[in-house]
Amino acid sequence: MKKKYPLPIMIIHWLTLLFVMLAYITGGDPTVHLKSGEIHVLAGISVFLLFFIRIITIFIYRKDLPLNKPLSKYQKKLFLMVKYTLYSLLFLIPVLGFCTLSGLTDNYQLFGINLPLISNSWDTEKIGKTHEFLGNFFMVLIGFHALAALIHHYVFKDNVLKSMLYFKK
Ligand code: HEM
Ligand code: HEM
Repeated sequence: MKKKYPLPIMIIHWLTLLFVMLAYITGGDPTVHLKSGEIHVLAGISVFLLFFIRIITIFIYRKDLPLNKPLSKYQKKLFLMVKYTLYSLLFLIPVLGFCTLSGLTDNYQLFGINLPLISNSWDTEKIGKTHEFLGNFFMVLIGFHALAALIHHYVFKDNVLKSMLYFKK
């Protein structure tokens, strides 16, 4: 039985964390905060692209995933709920961010390159507020997810955290 996630999945998992954190700390209107805004948009787009790369990689390695046994059926349900909510937000938050940006400006330069935007007549303020709310909710959920991993490691003393760490035997 496999004890660790395949290396490409580990890399994508931790790279995603890095870009999400970068997007979060640079959060704000990119048409006002120009420099940090560019980092925000680039980090957010990277999260979006990694989402698809992650799905493809998980599919390719589907037979090599570790079987971390849940302690109870409630724990399994909770794990799956958190997992699919995290997945949905990895897709939804960048899309809403892109829609907000498209409503705020007709022309956005990302490190000198013109970012293709879509024309729309939506309520930009509402979409922006939803983007911001989901961004904050995402952080809370990541906190729970990380706390669960640490509880597995230090309280249950099982293999769950180690399965996502390359160096820990
Ligand atoms: C996982 C990725 C992302 C996260 C976690 C995130 C998070 C956030 C947060 C928390 C804010 C509000 C900051 C504040 O005002 O205090 C924000 C604002 C904003 N973000 Fe993102 N964002 C992400 C990706 C993106 C992307 C890909 C774009 C555009 C292509 C984008 C465009 C915007 C815009 C335009 C605002 C200003 C919204 C407004 O003022 O109504 N974001 N983001
Ligand atoms: C952006 C932040 C994060 C996201 C979106 C995220 C998402 C996910 C997802 C979707 C999985 C299931 C495997 C997969 O489909 O790839 C997973 C597994 C895992 N994550 Fe995270 N994660 C994040 C941050 C963290 C942090 C900060 C920790 C620990 C401190 C952590 C520890 C783990 C562990 C140990 C697993 C394996 C769980 C198991 O198989 O039972 N993650 N993560």
